[in-house]
Amino acid sequence: MAKVTGLDGIVAAETDISLVDGEQGHLIYRGYWAKDLAVSKEYEEAAYLLWFGELPDEARLESVRNSLQSKRELPDRIRKLLEALPATMPVMNVLQVATAAMSDDTPAWPPTIGQAVELTALLPTIVTYWHRKQLGLPAIEPDARLGHTANFLYMLTGERPNPAHVKALNAYLVLGMEHGMNASTFASRVVLSTQSDMASAVSAAIGAMKGPLHGGAPSEVIAMLDAIGSKDHAEAWIRGVLGRGEKLMGFGHRVYKTRDPRAEALREVTEALSGNDPWFDLAVQTEQIAVALLEEYKPGRRLYANVEFFAAAIMRAIALPTALFTPAFTVARVVGWTAHLLEQAEINRIFRPQSVYTGPQPEQQQR
Ligand code: ACO
Repeated sequence: MAKVTGLDGIVAAETDISLVDGEQGHLIYRGYWAKDLAVSKEYEEAAYLLWFGELPDEARLESVRNSLQSKRELPDRIRKLLEALPATMPVMNVLQVATAAMSDDTPAWPPTIGQAVELTALLPTIVTYWHRKQLGLPAIEPDARLGHTANFLYMLTGERPNPAHVKALNAYLVLGMEHGMNASTFASRVVLSTQSDMASAVSAAIGAMKGPLHGGAPSEVIAMLDAIGSKDHAEAWIRGVLGRGEKLMGFGHRVYKTRDPRAEALREVTEALSGNDPWFDLAVQTEQIAVALLEEYKPGRRLYANVEFFAAAIMRAIALPTALFTPAFTVARVVGWTAHLLEQAEINRIFRPQSVYTGPQPEQQQR
């Protein structure tokens, strides 16, 4: 008999936060289509929705913007910690250590929205601080005039970001915020269920996120777009891959057997912005050619672009280094984690599943 692993299909909690329906291609945040939010709402609005369950009015939006903005600077003790860590440490490990250190002086229970805001506000500062430290460059202080997404890009380079790039990255971050009971969200809820604090739970989630089976990296799609180079080469290049029986990176999905709603939203944004960046143009044109060729080589398999395909085009356009793909996903997903942690606290009961013992009995061992 097959070993029981992975909790497939097991319901671990009821949640009001999101619905993921792979058959229908639906992703809903608190009653709103995530794909609509991604193209029409800024990071701060979507975060407010996930935390509070409703979209903010102007006054509330201003207040959440101000709260996030006021918490962007590294607290002294976190700055000292980052200074002390060796520059060779991978950025996801740094995020894990720094968030764990944030639990030092916050009351553990119950978790608060203030802690959610603080963790969310600080992650881009830690990511960009670390990236620049690894390059031997001085940190760039946050710019209070910029929104969360624009400031993240600004702190990477010190340059005012291109508005088309901000819009595209914003859409990616909104779509990455939440995806049901995925491994990192589940890990964070398990930690919190022991009445541990929010920062420790987020630190655990980051530990789960950095695994290659979860955090992903659209780097293989970037290599593909780089190799294709221009629309004129796309058809021959893709025929080459499919003709050799290989898989085309950025297409197909285990859960979504129809169009991936996140990819649809990113396509819409990328299409609307094509003309603003050659990578957007290439992605939109390559996708059309690829979907037609996949139907020719793999008829009836329902293969469409997945979220990684358009994410790659966006990452390439904003010139985000490959090492920062998973950290950027983390900057998005921290909103979902903290929303789940606030929800977990409301209905808390410690997670204590069972295991089935399949080892030997003492009498067998003593023979
Ligand atoms: N290119 C070409 N053919 C494909 C592709 C692809 N990208 N994806 C699936 N197929 C084909 C398979 O060869 C198979 O064909 P067959 O029936 O002739 O054997 C059929 O479609 C079904 O494929 P499976 O591998 O069974 O589909 P599954 O749902 O298990 O795989 C997966 C999903 C792993 C994502 C697959 O589509 C793939 O490898 N894609 C490329 C890698 C990729 O883009 N990964 C990122 C996923 S997005 C994310 O993780 C956030």
